[in-house]
Amino acid sequence: MSTSKFQTKSFASANSGHSISSTINDIEQTYSIDKVDISSKVNVQALNSGILTVIGNTPLLKLENVFKNAHFQLFAKMEMFNPGGSVKDRPALNMLMKAFQKGDIKPGDTIIESSSGNLGIGLAQASTVLGLRFICVIDPKTTQQNINILRAYGAQVDIVTEPDPITGDFLPARINRVNSLLKSIPNSFWCNQYANLNNAAAHYQTMHEIVTALDGKLDYLFCSTGSCGTLRGCAEYIRSNNLDTKIIAVDAKGSVIFGGKRAKRLIPGHGAARVPELLQPGLEDMCIHVSDMDCVVGCHRLLSTEAILAGGSSGGVITAIDKKQQDIPANAICAAIFCDRGERYLDTIYSNSWLKNNFGEALLESKELQQFSRI
Ligand SMILES: Cc1ncc(COP(=O)(O)O)c(C=O)c1O
Repeated sequence: MSTSKFQTKSFASANSGHSISSTINDIEQTYSIDKVDISSKVNVQALNSGILTVIGNTPLLKLENVFKNAHFQLFAKMEMFNPGGSVKDRPALNMLMKAFQKGDIKPGDTIIESSSGNLGIGLAQASTVLGLRFICVIDPKTTQQNINILRAYGAQVDIVTEPDPITGDFLPARINRVNSLLKSIPNSFWCNQYANLNNAAAHYQTMHEIVTALDGKLDYLFCSTGSCGTLRGCAEYIRSNNLDTKIIAVDAKGSVIFGGKRAKRLIPGHGAARVPELLQPGLEDMCIHVSDMDCVVGCHRLLSTEAILAGGSSGGVITAIDKKQQDIPANAICAAIFCDRGERYLDTIYSNSWLKNNFGEALLESKELQQFSRI
């Protein structure tokens, strides 16, 4: 565990009694699992070696080309380097470990979560190592590729085929299904990522890694939002270390997290159809909404300028920085969290025919995309 000057323990929430600190007494326990006596509850050997030990400590890259001759410096936190391919490996592991420590689960139990993507994959990966059964509740919008990945990891995929009859949304239907599975399966446990403080607490470490690498000099953090786990964990870290960093939340247009009207969205990962319990007023200094097209353009820009094949929300963050750049002071140091990698988007963001079907020929011919697209 790092001995840097930045606080890694007992962090207090600046704005509410409902703080992460009430849940996490010692953040070191999160990532130094071998120090925690859970030997009677889980195969400790599996935690001291193997795939889960390489979650976190992802690279922080300086990006020199995506904004050529920029007046600011930009660093990318490459969460796509986590073994399950995304930022969600961290909360998946942390939520399960805290549940073990609290005695909420034991090997052989069943984990249930509603997720159509990265969290499900992170939980499937960790469940395999930890001897848990995992049921992932999905809906028809989940890509076949993600279903294949979940099944390859050994997850049981439970598909909700009908939306909620009152709202017409799949999200409440998926939560109903989770609740009925919890009732019918003994020794089952729902991580409930939207409300679970251990989701957010995992990102105290993410922020610690960024800040330590930059020796505390960070002016802006650009962070995508979905469950708001990343936003909340990073914001709490920044506050408890009294850093001056401004936090720019990047949300999807059509998501309701920061208000606004719900609308159809094509790019998965970021955005939410309801306000997560983890969101608190004032976590972010500013929110920028990005459209599906902003994400597409940002992804192609990253690929052609930096050779980084990233997922949709990373493209959204790049476009958000582009929109904000005239307000960024000279020599400012900025960091962006790149949540996942692009292979899972080859049939969408990186597919000519998908782009044509969803945005029309006009997008493919637009100057915006043409200058970056190589497909
Ligand atoms: C690709 C991607 N971007 C952004 C997010 C949002 O992260 P969080 O849930 O921590 O708000 C997620 C969450 O699943 C994601 O998978």
